[in-house]
Amino acid sequence: MDLVALGSADLDHATRAGLRALWDLAFPEGFSDEDEAHAYGGVHVLVRADGDPVAHASAVPRRIRFGPTWHTVAYVEAVATHPAHRGRGLGRAVMQRLHDEIAGRWPVAMLSTGSATGFYERLGWERWQGTSYTRTPTGTVADGEQDGLMILRLDPLLVPDLRVDVVCEDRPGDAW
Ligand SMILES: CC(C)(COP(=O)(O)OP(=O)(O)OC[C@H]1O[C@@H](n2cnc3c(N)ncnc32)[C@H](O)[C@@H]1OP(=O)(O)O)[C@@H](O)C(=O)NCCC(=O)NCCS
Repeated sequence: MDLVALGSADLDHATRAGLRALWDLAFPEGFSDEDEAHAYGGVHVLVRADGDPVAHASAVPRRIRFGPTWHTVAYVEAVATHPAHRGRGLGRAVMQRLHDEIAGRWPVAMLSTGSATGFYERLGWERWQGTSYTRTPTGTVADGEQDGLMILRLDPLLVPDLRVDVVCEDRPGDAW
């Protein structure tokens, strides 16, 4: 097995196909084409076994508003370990390397999760405590997504208060 960090532009067709197969296995409730598109455009960390990806996480730049101020932050996407390889530290290893990659590029990272809050808390992530909104072409609307939102504060001064409103820009598929 090896663990590598690669830019999206460096992922060849076979690797992208392998990642899609990994995500389809890891998210049996459904992993959409939009979810896949959201994972590209930044930096990936993957663990490969015999050349096939068995664990992955990526971070892409996104504009997020914290209280009154917009910042470009890392947004973590498509975190997955192949079901046959879970519980052996691969997810943690991938995230720890991704934290290093993020730290060299962005002051803060965010993500949205359903059931893996505890996995991220062990890694230093904090739950968002304010209300979440999505900015759409027709206005900024409360979206009720705050319970799944988490933040990793590499620079704690950038977002000192986790209770303020947080706003993302709308996109195809899930906004957060
Ligand atoms: C969440 C996931 C990536 C974890 O991968 P993994 O390789 O099994 O994780 P690790 O073995 O590195 O576990 C690291 C720690 O997190 C814990 N952990 C793993 N999954 C967890 C979860 N869903 N909730 C809470 N804690 C979890 C482990 O028990 C371990 O704890 P320890 O430090 O006390 O030993 C994997 O279960 C997965 O692919 N799930 C389906 C897809 C998913 O939910 N992705 C995240 C959504 S944003």
